[in-house]
Amino acid sequence: MAEPRRLAVITGGSRGIGRAFVLEAAQRGYDVVFSYRSREADAAKTVELAAALGGQANSVCADLENLEGVHTLASVAHAKGEVSLLVNNAGIGEEFTLEELTREAWERSVAINLTAPTFLAKEFKADLVARRGAILNVSSDGGVAGSLHGAAYGATKAGLIGLTKTLARELAPHVRCNAIAPGPVATEMWFAIDPAVQQQVMEREMPLKRIAQPEDIARAGLDISSWPDASGIVVLLDGGRIM
Ligand SMILES: NC(=O)c1ccc[n+]([C@@H]2O[C@H](COP(=O)([O-])OP(=O)(O)OC[C@H]3O[C@@H](n4cnc5c(N)ncnc54)[C@H](OP(=O)(O)O)[C@@H]3O)[C@@H](O)[C@H]2O)c1
Repeated sequence: MAEPRRLAVITGGSRGIGRAFVLEAAQRGYDVVFSYRSREADAAKTVELAAALGGQANSVCADLENLEGVHTLASVAHAKGEVSLLVNNAGIGEEFTLEELTREAWERSVAINLTAPTFLAKEFKADLVARRGAILNVSSDGGVAGSLHGAAYGATKAGLIGLTKTLARELAPHVRCNAIAPGPVATEMWFAIDPAVQQQVMEREMPLKRIAQPEDIARAGLDISSWPDASGIVVLLDGGRIM
């Protein structure tokens, strides 16, 4: 009897790194359910690009700032089958100094960058255990070494690393849980940063002097998720910025 196809859930697949994850997963034979917040046309483009690769991707509009969005994404995915891979990619990189930071902005970053990944892991735990699956959390080098974006981003991305290691213990031996920590990646999030800061980071902090492409990150992330002995690891993909 033929093996059922593997199903991946990827958050934030409408553009940037998330879109690259959807396309890479499709090329590796996964059916994909991915979420986006509001950019319907971009999400439709991802579906179209996946189809052109012979893959099947379904988009779900779900605002992960609240738990209803988490439940919406989970219920669409559950209707498609058992999930083998969860990629917690969606995130916001709002930039604030401590003076500028409001309680509301802090709560928003915590909700999207940390609470949603945690509760998606809870939603898919039974599937991932049954399928001996994997979770990949997309952190940031700012979560490892402190962030240029300020407290909300730095703390939530560091929190995601704590979540990764905790789930790697809690869900072992059935589920592997790992994180990647990219440096600059050529997406809207990076290009929204002050160009002077971009230049400074590239010239002074990046030995490889190279901005990663979303496809590089997706390929590495799915490779790591397939390593049978890797769980609880954090892989820096930042051009040698942190050694
Ligand atoms: N780019 C970098 O330099 C870099 C470096 C290190 C780490 N990262 C991390 O990599 C991940 C992806 O980054 P990116 O650069 O690809 O980001 P991006 O281009 O800004 O794309 C963000 C994605 O997340 C979705 N999203 C944003 N807010 C959401 C919400 N409230 N609910 C649901 N989905 C939401 C967006 O949906 P819509 O399209 O509908 O808005 C979009 O699909 C993030 O976690 C980021 O922190 C990025």
